Amino acid sequence: MSAKEVAIAAGAMAIIRRLSDPSLVPLATGAPNSALLPHRKLNALLAAEVRKRPVESTSYGSPRGSKHLRQQISRRLLTAGCSVTPEEITVTCGCVEAVTLALRATCRPGDAVAIGSPVYYTFLNAIRQLGLKLVEIPTHPGEGLDLDVLRFALRHAPVRAVVAILNFDNPLGCVMPDANKRRLVELLAADGIPLIEDDVYAELGFSAGRPTSAKAYDRAGLVLHCASVSKTLAPGYRVGWIVAGRFQAEVEALKALTNIATPSPTQLAVAEFLATGGYDRHLRGLRRVYAAQAARMRAAVARHFPPGTRISQPAGGSVLWVEMPAGVDSLDLYAEALGAGIAVVPGPLFTVGDDYRNCLRLSASAWTPRIEAAVAALGAMARGPAPPP
Ligand SMILES: Cc1ncc(COP(=O)(O)O)c(C=O)c1O
Repeated sequence: MSAKEVAIAAGAMAIIRRLSDPSLVPLATGAPNSALLPHRKLNALLAAEVRKRPVESTSYGSPRGSKHLRQQISRRLLTAGCSVTPEEITVTCGCVEAVTLALRATCRPGDAVAIGSPVYYTFLNAIRQLGLKLVEIPTHPGEGLDLDVLRFALRHAPVRAVVAILNFDNPLGCVMPDANKRRLVELLAADGIPLIEDDVYAELGFSAGRPTSAKAYDRAGLVLHCASVSKTLAPGYRVGWIVAGRFQAEVEALKALTNIATPSPTQLAVAEFLATGGYDRHLRGLRRVYAAQAARMRAAVARHFPPGTRISQPAGGSVLWVEMPAGVDSLDLYAEALGAGIAVVPGPLFTVGDDYRNCLRLSASAWTPRIEAAVAALGAMARGPAPPP
């Protein structure tokens, strides 16, 4: 990284650290609403599994992960259109580990990685930390990654891998239509370029059913499908997975080198929850609540923010992207909001370029009177001081 990039990354990290202060109104969080998660049931399963399997739960597992868990993930992936055997799945410590293993397996320092813009800031940091170059491709709020721009970029830059959040993108909340997913997979396969698919939000759609994954269209083993239960069950359990296709051996070697294996107790508990815990019923409830909260927050932003503000219309997930009129500076707003005890993520964190200065990401994972008041206060800050009478 250049000195300038190091300074920008350090600034972004400082902002991210401050936003995790639990005393702030949590409009910055990407975490699920813990009140909506089945802690009791999961923790009871964890205790029961540890009691039932005292040796397995305290031994090194295999780098590939618990077979029972991989069987459950394989079964669930059928609803994403993916026919994947348990042997093709590697369990990871969450989705971010899956994506970083995928980047390490497919790229070497100095390689270029294409990624949507705006995008989840952790991936920008990961890509830079790995010594890779970024090629940002605009993401359309309706249809996701702009495939025409991507095709143009591939012709002009030696892109080694593409990272994409195709289902309920963070921060835009959009879903790439199936025809585009197929086109994306075929476009990359024609040049032998791996697609690293982050599908962590796929189970959080506001309408019935689950969108297909790009992996469903993979004929060449070039799609590395990454996901976790962090957004639906327990972010602290650190249970995710990767289906790495032709990169599986390399991914498993890197996984073993990084942390030997994913901790066993949480894998066992998640496997049992997926098998017997009523996961689909839980998801239906979570999705209904998130859809209602997103609608309420959109209405509140429309009511309180300055005229000309545009708000994303997510099809799922738990965040909103707010584009304020040009001239409203989200870094100033972030600082003013912090002073008032409110956490929001300013737009510039979602790019390495100079864009999104007038944008914010708001979390809609909870809706309380305190949050409603914070949205109204943010809107007043964005409007600025009232003109003198
Ligand atoms: C797109 C995306 N991927 C991954 C993660 C984190 O996943 P995990 O906690 O499973 O590592 C997040 C969290 O905000 C996210 O937004």
